[in-house]
Amino acid sequence: GMKAAGKLMKVFVTRRIPQEGMKILSSAADCEVSLWDSDEPVPKAELLKSVQGAHGLLCLLTDKIDAEVLDAAGPNLKVISTLSVGFDHLALDEIKKRGIRLGYTPDVLTDATAELTVALLLATARRLPEGVEEVKNGGWSAWKPLWLCGYGLSGSTVGVIGLGRIGMAIAQRLMPFGVKRLLYSGRTAKPHAAEVNGEFVPIDTLVSESDFIVVSCSLTPETQGLCNKAMFSKMKNTAVFINSSRGAVVNQEDLYEALSSGQIAAAGLDVTTPEPLPTNHPLLKLKNCVVLPHIGSATYSTRGVMSVLAAQNLLGGLQGTDMPSELSL
Ligand code: NDP
Ligand code: DGY
Repeated sequence: GMKAAGKLMKVFVTRRIPQEGMKILSSAADCEVSLWDSDEPVPKAELLKSVQGAHGLLCLLTDKIDAEVLDAAGPNLKVISTLSVGFDHLALDEIKKRGIRLGYTPDVLTDATAELTVALLLATARRLPEGVEEVKNGGWSAWKPLWLCGYGLSGSTVGVIGLGRIGMAIAQRLMPFGVKRLLYSGRTAKPHAAEVNGEFVPIDTLVSESDFIVVSCSLTPETQGLCNKAMFSKMKNTAVFINSSRGAVVNQEDLYEALSSGQIAAAGLDVTTPEPLPTNHPLLKLKNCVVLPHIGSATYSTRGVMSVLAAQNLLGGLQGTDMPSELSL
């Protein structure tokens, strides 16, 4: 059962989450749920207070779960469930050391995130935000042969950095646009790449031969700052760079330099450092940079299903049974 030494199991949820997931938690017997009842992130001091004595923690990618938070929670804590597939906000070594189980939300957000990434790629390559702006500000004077031209996917070479669940779903969606070659790089060749005729290549080959470079790897010490000056300098001047993984994979100063100097053609970012990106950030002054506010998985149904999975992971961990999506540490 869900009793710990005859007492209620305490659960802390760090934000308002979709009702589908909240219902599951609220109806769990022997489970006392408290919530940071807001749409904004819980301040660290509040988190440290609220997590005290918790058996379960349902958190978001905006919450840094480090040794300080785990120590504040204390020895009751047996499960952390994050409402995300990314887990770079979690101190995995500290979690493992304490014997805490970890749940996350892979697969259920793959399609939504891949769709958004394709939308961002097309919006960036075909300059949609610029065009919309020109319609509104009177810059649209007439149809002009050389105005607002961009780059098309047909006949192009696409390079995917990190052909995992989302990278593969992006590749599958791009191929029907008439992509000629699909390159990918990562630590290991993927058997499933055959479905998109993917060629496993060294990352230098990928960046120098691709017309579109899409980043969909996880953020790790190895991928932090991976997209830097050295990488941008190997890209074509016509290259379109897209990142929907984590902001820290990109060195933003180097990206700014590459975009403003014409080293590459354009960039589309769904993720930045920091988030939110300050409204006076230099990248936001560039017409050839499209920045979205981390909305990859933001469809109503996907967020609902993510919340259900996160709730089920949490309850499984509390009960000491199977978690539908446990990250093995
Ligand atoms: P996966 O684990 O399936 O894919 C991650 C991929 O990253 C793997 O294929 C892995 O390849 C690759 N990778 C790891 N290290 C490197 C490296 N050094 N160089 C190149 N590739 C590397 O995860 P998902 O596809 O489900 O999610 C990927 C990421 O997308 C998440 O970690 C998250 O950060 C981000 N994300 C962003 C969203 C958004 O809203 N924008 C929504 C959802 C996820 P290999 O094994 O060969 O190393
Ligand atoms: C994740 O899940 O890691 C995304 O960034 C948000 O859905």
